[in-house]
Amino acid sequence: MGGRASGTALGIVSFYAMPGAFDYNSHPPSGAFGMRYLILSDIHANVTALDAALAAVRGRWDKAVCLGDIVGYGPDPNEVIDRIRGLDALTIRGNHDKASSGLENAEDFNPVARHAALWTREQLRPENREWLERLPVGPVTIGGFSIVHGAARDEDEYVFAPAQALDGLLDAAFPLTFFGHTHLQGGFTLRDDKVGALHFKPPESTMFSRLTIEEGTTYLLNPGSVGQPRDGDARAAFAIAELDERVVEFWRVPYQVDSVQARMARAGLPQSLISRLASGR
Ligand SMILES: [Fe+2]
Repeated sequence: MGGRASGTALGIVSFYAMPGAFDYNSHPPSGAFGMRYLILSDIHANVTALDAALAAVRGRWDKAVCLGDIVGYGPDPNEVIDRIRGLDALTIRGNHDKASSGLENAEDFNPVARHAALWTREQLRPENREWLERLPVGPVTIGGFSIVHGAARDEDEYVFAPAQALDGLLDAAFPLTFFGHTHLQGGFTLRDDKVGALHFKPPESTMFSRLTIEEGTTYLLNPGSVGQPRDGDARAAFAIAELDERVVEFWRVPYQVDSVQARMARAGLPQSLISRLASGR
């Protein structure tokens, strides 16, 4: 914990967002209330999950943002890179992008992740490998908020718990930062010297939970993982930020997991990576 944490009470307050009504008509057309940002993270070469997510929110966003780990684990690295490049998404790199492009050697990965990274490296078309290599390091700023892969001070740092989030909240350049890397949809808040944890549990009957952004609160928000969720919900996770309306929607969209698993099996990717997609773990 940094020196600035001294004197700050580390209160743990959990909030559970109410599920949002699935009402397209309540959302005005593009431009009426400023930019709507589609926040994608940890797609992990799962083009079926990405396509399902994009189909579910067609017409509901203006600019796409990607928090890294475009590839790794999944069977579709070139297809996912092609999609993200086609969207002209503002994209920063993740640890799997570094390992899969060859920027890093994957020696600190576990054997399963390393296997997938080296397989990905063999599959990448040269122009896509170069695109991965050139991705900027977070934090990057857009539209009055920041994006990072893991944490602002270290792109590879995992922020799982309120105590790990505190320095990032105290040092935040903007009231809102989006982060990824943990594959857990939710986040953390700092208000009146108390850190809160946000959990989102959209039931099967709804596709998103809606969070209202409050004045005087600093937010670290994780949209969750599009292509390999780890919070027990197998549906693709992502977010849409409508900041002029002070709303962030946390989405879950089902996709055809077994078709991805079949491609992974054909590619010879590790069974543990294939199995975990169905359980969202
Ligand atoms: Fe990841």
